[in-house]
Amino acid sequence: MKTVKHMDNEEEMIVTPWEVRGKIDYEKLIREFGTQPLTDELMKRVKKDLGEPLNPQLRRKLFFSHRDFDLILDRFEKGQKFVLYTGRGPSGPVHIGHLVPWIFTKYLQNKFKVPLYFQMTDDEKFVIEDSMELEETTRWAYDNALDLIALGFKPENTKIIFDVKDIALQYDIALKVAKRVTYSTARAVFGFQDSTNLGWIFWPAVQAVPCFIHAKLTGENVPVLIPAAIDQDPYWRITRDVAQKLGYHKPAQIHCRFVPGLGKGGKMSASEPETAIFTTDTAEDVKRKVWNAFTGGKPTVKEQRKTGGDPYICSVFQYFLYLFEEDDKKIAQLDRECRTGAVICGDCKAVLTERVNKFLKEHQKQREKAKANLQKYFLKS
Ligand code: TYM
Repeated sequence: MKTVKHMDNEEEMIVTPWEVRGKIDYEKLIREFGTQPLTDELMKRVKKDLGEPLNPQLRRKLFFSHRDFDLILDRFEKGQKFVLYTGRGPSGPVHIGHLVPWIFTKYLQNKFKVPLYFQMTDDEKFVIEDSMELEETTRWAYDNALDLIALGFKPENTKIIFDVKDIALQYDIALKVAKRVTYSTARAVFGFQDSTNLGWIFWPAVQAVPCFIHAKLTGENVPVLIPAAIDQDPYWRITRDVAQKLGYHKPAQIHCRFVPGLGKGGKMSASEPETAIFTTDTAEDVKRKVWNAFTGGKPTVKEQRKTGGDPYICSVFQYFLYLFEEDDKKIAQLDRECRTGAVICGDCKAVLTERVNKFLKEHQKQREKAKANLQKYFLKS
C-alpha cells in the first residue's frame, strides 16, 4: 500500500497509514499530500489564542503541518464550537510514539475545553493484519484504551468509540461516505491492489465516521480537529471530499512528525520491539533498549570527546526533544554539549533511561487505576 513513494538519495520514503519507511522529508510530504505548513504567522496567532508558553511539541514544530487549523482558530476566537477527534489501531501494546499525538490532544482539550471522540479501530487491524484474529484486536482495543485514560482524559468530555462494539452507531454514516468514494479514488489514495481484501477497501469509510458523529449524537453540526501523525492524512483527503456533500464540515487536522525508533532511522514501530518503548515495558526493558540505542556516536570515548556528536541523527536526543525535556534552554545546552563532546552518549542514555522509567512508573500506575473506570468512557448504544 503506497501513497507516496520516491527515491530520496538512496533511501526510499514511504508514508501511508499502514507503512512508514525511509528517510522522511517533511517538506516534501507537505507538498505531496497538499497540506499547509504551520507558518510563523499562524504560530503567532496560536500563541495569542492558547497562551504562552505553548506546549513543547508545538513550539518545537514537532507539529508542523495542518489542514484548516486556521479555520478552527477562527471558530475559537468567535466562541463557536468544534470537537476533537483522534484514534488508535489496536494491534498490540501502545508505544511512546503513539502517546505524542494523545498528549498533544490533551493539551488542546485543556485549552479549548471541547469534547474528544477517540476511535479504537479493532476492525481496521483485523482486516489489514493477516495474522490477527478479531478477538485479539478487540482485546487490544480495551487494553490500549487504558493508556489513553492514564493520560488524564476525563469521561465527562471524552468518549471512546470501539468500532466493533459501536458499529450500529456508525454504520449509516460509513455507508453514506462509502457510496460517494469511487474505487478508483480509493485506489489512488491508498494504493489498493487486486489482492487487497474487501474489508480493507471499505474500511476507510469507517475511519471517516467520527468526523461527523458529534452531529448524530447531539444534533450540533460542528467541525472536528484531528491531531495525529501525518501518516493518517490520506483518510482525511477522502473524508474532506465528501463532507460537504453530506451536509457536514470538512474535518481539520494538525499533523506531527514521527517519533523515531531507537535504531538507525525509521519511526518507532511496534513491529520492531527492541527499538520501541512500550508503555508496559519494565524498567529493565527500558534500560536495555536505551542502552542499545543508535546515537551516531564515535567508536571510542576519546574520539567522541575530541570530535563531538550530531544530536539530530541521535535517537536519544530526539526523545528529549519530543517528550522528556520540557526546558528549551536545556535542549539548546544539550545540543551544544553533544556537538563539542562535553557530554557523551553514555551520559545521555543514563539520563533518558531515568526519565522514561519515571514517566512509565506513573503511567503504569494510572493504567491500573483506569481499569475500574473504562466503562465510563463508553458511548451509549
Ligand atoms: P495507529 O495505531 O497506527 O497510531 C495511533 C496514533 O499514533 C500516531 N503515530 C505516531 N506518532 C508519532 N510518532 C510515531 N512513531 C507514531 N506512530 C504512530 C498515528 O499517526 C496515530 O495518530 N488508523 C489509525 C487509528 C485511527 C486514528 C483516527 C488515528 C482511527 N481514527 C483518527 C488518528 C486520528 C491507526 O491505526 O493509528
